[in-house]
Amino acid sequence: MVRARPMSFARTCRRRLILPLLAAVLGQNAPAAGQPGGRAEATSPAVDRAILNGYRRYNATCSHCHGADGLGSTFAPSLIEQPLPFEQFAEVVNNGRTRGNSVMRGFAGDPNVAPYIADIYAYLRARAAGTIGRGRPARSR
Ligand code: HEC
Repeated sequence: MVRARPMSFARTCRRRLILPLLAAVLGQNAPAAGQPGGRAEATSPAVDRAILNGYRRYNATCSHCHGADGLGSTFAPSLIEQPLPFEQFAEVVNNGRTRGNSVMRGFAGDPNVAPYIADIYAYLRARAAGTIGRGRPARSR
């Protein structure tokens, strides 16, 4: 059950530093390099809003450990390969989890995370389902 995709150091650096920077500088509509798509399929405006908010929250708080686009890193698992049911997801995000040297702190009480767990989950499920590609989801129409 290997969840975290091994990545070279250079690749990790590129993901953690350069892609988010590029996205921030270039106005965020470019999908991550080398990937098709990057746009959300039309769902409903409410779902689109949740996913877009989830994308923002994920990138602000989770991506430096869990990797760009939910793909995982050398030290935190992918959150889209084997998505947890919502209750378990929320439990880990709120309370954190420790398994040996593998530690995630809890985000309960973090105003940038706790109120938006469902949105982050919606974003990651859409990624897992392939409804949206890499990069910033399109705005709702
Ligand atoms: C400081 C690094 C770090 C940050 C930041 C972080 N995580 Fe984690 N996360 C981890 C590690 C490491 C694990 C694995 C813990 C373990 O082995 O039990 C983990 C595990 C998880 C799991 C369980 C995955 C599974 O398949 O069992 C979920 C869900 C999760 N994180 C969600 C999030 C979300 C959402 C955020 C942002 C709000 C976040 N994490 C931020 C390091 C981090």
